[in-house]
Amino acid sequence: MDLKKHRSIAIDGPSGAGKSTLAKRLAKELGYHYVDTGAIYRTVALAALRAGIDPADESRVAALLPDIRIGMDYDGDGLQHMYLNGEDVTGAIRENRVSAGASKAAAIPAVRAFLLDTQRELARKHDVIMDGRDIGTVVLPNADVKIFLTATPEARAERRWRELLERGQSADKARVLQEVMERDARDTNRASAPLRQAEDAVPADTTKLDFEGSYRLLLRIIRERMGGTPNE
Ligand code: DC
Repeated sequence: MDLKKHRSIAIDGPSGAGKSTLAKRLAKELGYHYVDTGAIYRTVALAALRAGIDPADESRVAALLPDIRIGMDYDGDGLQHMYLNGEDVTGAIRENRVSAGASKAAAIPAVRAFLLDTQRELARKHDVIMDGRDIGTVVLPNADVKIFLTATPEARAERRWRELLERGQSADKARVLQEVMERDARDTNRASAPLRQAEDAVPADTTKLDFEGSYRLLLRIIRERMGGTPNE
């Protein structure tokens, strides 16, 4: 039996703050498993949309859950692949309609309860860097390091807009900002596990930082909190 307690790093914050890109690189540097929990909520939202169900429809989404099989694995580059009933939906869950749907489905308590064990199980088995909205507050309240990553809505919308263009999806900047603000409001104001900074989380604002600057800031926080030995 493996008695070693695994290390865990929780990174929470609003969409577009840079959580996933930073967490991915940190995971590589530290030799941890990267877990993108938003991708799991996105997979549930995609299942609802494909079934013709509004992701905000609490009773119909809850009734769909027993029929959803969610799978996850990692390719050689450490990219987290998501599977819905056996189909690889890693690309499909990044569509804009799924982003909006995920924040609606994520407000449903039955959805959060359905996904809680999956997330905790990953942290029981591996050293993890897990990103999401409620990792430090609900999923891993005993995480070794908790970081609350933020940036202004304008900076986050600008990044999301560029990302969409790079993926070849056309997007209107003002509309992207509006969507970012709507998702912030839904993620922050919901009753069940809302987005909020855990009391023992270290805040990190990336508004004025580029990727390298943000990465160095987070690595410093992790090393300070773990006494310089995050991968022992
Ligand atoms: O991180 P993301 O944008 O891929 O997340 C998609 C949605 O899922 C987001 O609007 C909020 C929700 N979410 C959540 O409620 N809790 C998490 N731990 C992760 C994501």
